[in-house]
Amino acid sequence: MADAQMRIVVITDDPGWHGRQLLAALSARHCTASYLRLQDCLFDLAPSSANPSLGSGLLLGALGARLPDGVFVRGVPGGTLEQVILRLDVLHALKLLDVPVYNDARAIERTVDKAMTSFLLHRAGIPTPPTWVMEDPVRCREQIAREWALGHEVVCKPLFGSQGDGLLRLAPGMPLPDLAAYQGVAYLQRFLPGQGGINRDFRVFVIGGRADCAMARYGQGWIHNVAQGARCEAVRVSGELAELALAAVKALDMDYAGVDLMAGPDGRLQVLEVNSVPAWHGLQSVTPHRIAEHLVEDFLTRCVLPAHTRRIALAGRWPSHELH
Ligand SMILES: Nc1ncnc2c1ncn2[C@@H]1O[C@H](COP(=O)(O)OP(=O)(O)O)[C@@H](O)[C@H]1O
Ligand SMILES: [Mg+2]
Repeated sequence: MADAQMRIVVITDDPGWHGRQLLAALSARHCTASYLRLQDCLFDLAPSSANPSLGSGLLLGALGARLPDGVFVRGVPGGTLEQVILRLDVLHALKLLDVPVYNDARAIERTVDKAMTSFLLHRAGIPTPPTWVMEDPVRCREQIAREWALGHEVVCKPLFGSQGDGLLRLAPGMPLPDLAAYQGVAYLQRFLPGQGGINRDFRVFVIGGRADCAMARYGQGWIHNVAQGARCEAVRVSGELAELALAAVKALDMDYAGVDLMAGPDGRLQVLEVNSVPAWHGLQSVTPHRIAEHLVEDFLTRCVLPAHTRRIALAGRWPSHELH
């Protein structure tokens, strides 16, 4: 059967535990899977002597011009703005060529950029802490002063940050950050003090429109990322926790996601951020759910139909040896 021969690419330049989990789950589903670094992809838009008709113009490392049946994105490495844009271009191009990309470049762009995430959550009416994003240091100072005057602390985050790195909690009177340390952009968010002295937030793993599993993270300080040493504890994913996580993922139009939530002063949950390339090592250590298998199961449902329609759609356009 055609599915048995599906050729899947896992985009990563550092496969590690997550890459191995995905490859094992893919091979259990009889897929041919390999890793691909976005740095090894390129556009070659000249007709070649071997293929005088117009090919896709996209070369994918060792795969060359052959398109995979699906692409699972496990990482988009940082670099210069130009390098990052080229890497995202490759993901955009794959999608334009009807290759399922899980999560696609638009979802990654919307969520790597905390400003756009916050804007889309706010626009969808999803509870999220009040947030301000600006370049002007004077307005930044004024905004922080206004929050302090209202009795709130403020968190300053790197716009493209992750794993709890570079976060600054500003209590009244503290020296303000030099925006140069934040690439010239202030992403400011009202600090949620936590409920009843409990230092925790929640991570919900959403797969294919379903809240798969969740954990509470107990930080040593106010930052509750696993990468910062937080302790994980499985929690039932139901009620408000599941509903808000699902609403956030829908607002950001993602295939799968790790959603961070925390209780506000009224005890109601708020969405802090949404991750399009979430790690699940910590969560897997406390849940019996087989996360990589669930991811692969959902991902493959997206690969089957588009792969068939792609063959039909391209049959008239490309020489048959280009099809697979
Ligand atoms: N507004 C906030 N109030 C209180 N704690 C916060 C707030 N924003 C972030 N945190 C804490 O910092 C952690 C990291 O913030 P987050 O926005 O998820 O960025 P990152 O991409 O670095 O994970 C959160 O998991 C939470 O523990
Ligand atoms: Mg986070």
